Amino acid sequence: MKNIDIDNRLIFPATLRNRDVIAAVLSKYISPNSLFLEIASGSGEHGVFFQKKFPSIIWQTSDPELVHRKSINSWINHEGLFSKMPEPLDLDVEKRPWPISKQLRSLIKGIVCINMIHICPWTCTKAMFEESKFLLDKNNFLMLYGPFIIRNKQTSESNLNFDQSLKLQNPLWGIRHLEAVNELALENGFKQHNVIEMPANNLSVIYCLN
Ligand SMILES: C[S@@+](CC[C@H](N)C(=O)[O-])C[C@H]1O[C@@H](n2cnc3c(N)ncnc32)[C@H](O)[C@@H]1O
Repeated sequence: MKNIDIDNRLIFPATLRNRDVIAAVLSKYISPNSLFLEIASGSGEHGVFFQKKFPSIIWQTSDPELVHRKSINSWINHEGLFSKMPEPLDLDVEKRPWPISKQLRSLIKGIVCINMIHICPWTCTKAMFEESKFLLDKNNFLMLYGPFIIRNKQTSESNLNFDQSLKLQNPLWGIRHLEAVNELALENGFKQHNVIEMPANNLSVIYCLN
């Protein structure tokens, strides 16, 4: 991941390539006048893009890294969204319970996590489902976006190489098996509602509570 610093704004080049296609998926699931929580917002580029694309909603960003939260705030200010978008939450999925106020909890209608579960230990995916189930109800959704390995389906060479490079950085990282994620979802009362093939061998996976 290449970061270019402009004031506190970071630029994650992949966000420019995937934000439109992710927004197209989101547009089918988000309801107006609702609040959506983004886990692992990174630079904040997705957050400000989705906030501008869907002006009737509130996009709540979060990230455990201070440098990322500074970037998110910088992007919010740069885009003139400070009166609309809340500040990012300092949210590490494994630090539980999550720092979500009662008021925020009552507003959340969906949780979105883009490109995180392969770049942290499996325990993070586990924690994400375990905490999300307390924040959502049956009409809401949890959306994961990123690369996955699927049983009986050839994994692209680019994803195999990516998986290897992740494991070299940290043996606990790596592209997750969709079936294992689905199993975890099921253990936490979620069912896989939809899987959408995305460009560059990524998937959007939508989960809802049973
Ligand atoms: C590859 S970046 C993706 C950022 C952004 N979602 C995007 O698509 O550009 C992975 C992000 O996961 C975050 N992250 C890593 N471990 C985390 C954890 N335990 N809880 C929440 N976020 C985490 C990192 O801080 C980083 O922002």
